[in-house]
Amino acid sequence: MMNSPRSPRTINSARGLVGAVRMPGDKSISHRYAMLGAIAAGPTEVRYFSRSADCSSTLACLARLGCEISRNDADVTIGGKGPIGLQAAGSALDAGNSGSTMRMLAGILAAEPFRSVLVGDESLSRRPMQRVIDPLSRMGARIVAGPGGRPPLEIEGGPLRAIRYELPVASAQVKSAVLLAGLFADGSTEVIEPAVTRDHTEIALEHFGAEIERHGRQISVRGGAKLQGKQLHVPGDFSSSAFFIAAAMGLPESNLVIQNVGLNPTRTALLDVLAPMGGRLKVLNIEQLNGELIGDLHVESGGLEGGEIASESVPGLIDELPVLSVLATRMERGLTFRGAGELRVKESDRLSVVAENLRRMGAEVEEWPDGLRIPGRQKLRGAEVDSCGDHRIAMAFAVAGLFAEGATTIRDSSAVDISFPGFFETLAEHVI
Ligand code: S3P
Repeated sequence: MMNSPRSPRTINSARGLVGAVRMPGDKSISHRYAMLGAIAAGPTEVRYFSRSADCSSTLACLARLGCEISRNDADVTIGGKGPIGLQAAGSALDAGNSGSTMRMLAGILAAEPFRSVLVGDESLSRRPMQRVIDPLSRMGARIVAGPGGRPPLEIEGGPLRAIRYELPVASAQVKSAVLLAGLFADGSTEVIEPAVTRDHTEIALEHFGAEIERHGRQISVRGGAKLQGKQLHVPGDFSSSAFFIAAAMGLPESNLVIQNVGLNPTRTALLDVLAPMGGRLKVLNIEQLNGELIGDLHVESGGLEGGEIASESVPGLIDELPVLSVLATRMERGLTFRGAGELRVKESDRLSVVAENLRRMGAEVEEWPDGLRIPGRQKLRGAEVDSCGDHRIAMAFAVAGLFAEGATTIRDSSAVDISFPGFFETLAEHVI
């Protein structure tokens, strides 16, 4: 039965997570394969494409721009239009809830010789876009946004010049927008990141045939590359697996294998944080797939010490911080993290929503402008919490519900469809 948009979902306490589970196809990688496929020559065939609502938004936008898309569940074929082959959509392109769709597509539309308008839902319409407008305007695109640099974005694309750009915020979406625009620029476009962020765009660009150079946090792409359509397979989504990792570690009788999950080191900072704290984690059967690492993760219940997360680690686990905050209540010393102000401009203000929901469940939390401190060894009690329409909050508090005494009700639980349709059903199959 479908969960209606505001419909609540009740979660009961559990003893453990067991068995072998697969995550949906990685959302970040699926966006990139679709967008690069659209501007490549020839078809791109993607297996295990993300079923998320966000990636469907990307496919729908690409179809509106003249790409032929055929889809059979998780198998997607994108008919490449070549570098300047997209067509004006005629009316606004809807990115839905997806920041990745709006920001990365802006990089491509900056070069296409027509006018496009990108809109989003209520949450996306509140999110900052100046961070892509600044570099893309410097490259020669004409972009007008709503008040405060928020969506909608009106983009008049055209010839672009290469730039050297130091990113003011650590953001893979912004880095990707500049690199995608750089594909069309005259010369070599260089981006310098303040901290390493997920590098799926760099890996995929290389795979599709672009000339990329990388030296630490400095990445450059040469303009004028002729990308070739590819056959690709998407790894399971590591960020989705974070909810299963946290639940398995925090419950006393877990023994779980997460199969075929993406293990790109720019995504797995969560493992680097949990392992030294005593997390019982093993990586098995690791291999490379289209330049991305993939493998199995064995997770068991664990006594976690807790402590402080270094600010440099934050960009590598930005999407995992809500569920890590929930897991913190089960750690010996709890958890402190700072330098995570970006969480306030995600699909919801994740710092305030995590703090509010944990408090509703009886926990003590200290909130700063850029972080949280969650003391350890706290018992959660079942309560009514709100996802605020944010998929990662809905899933993080499903995990909190498994930890809590009594029943937890998550309002607006269907937000999980944004990245993980079927999340509750998959979780239920492994709960004991
Ligand atoms: C993403 C990058 C991150 C992340 C988002 C997906 C991506 O956003 O939070 O879920 O696919 O590049 P920022 O780049 O804005 O930090």
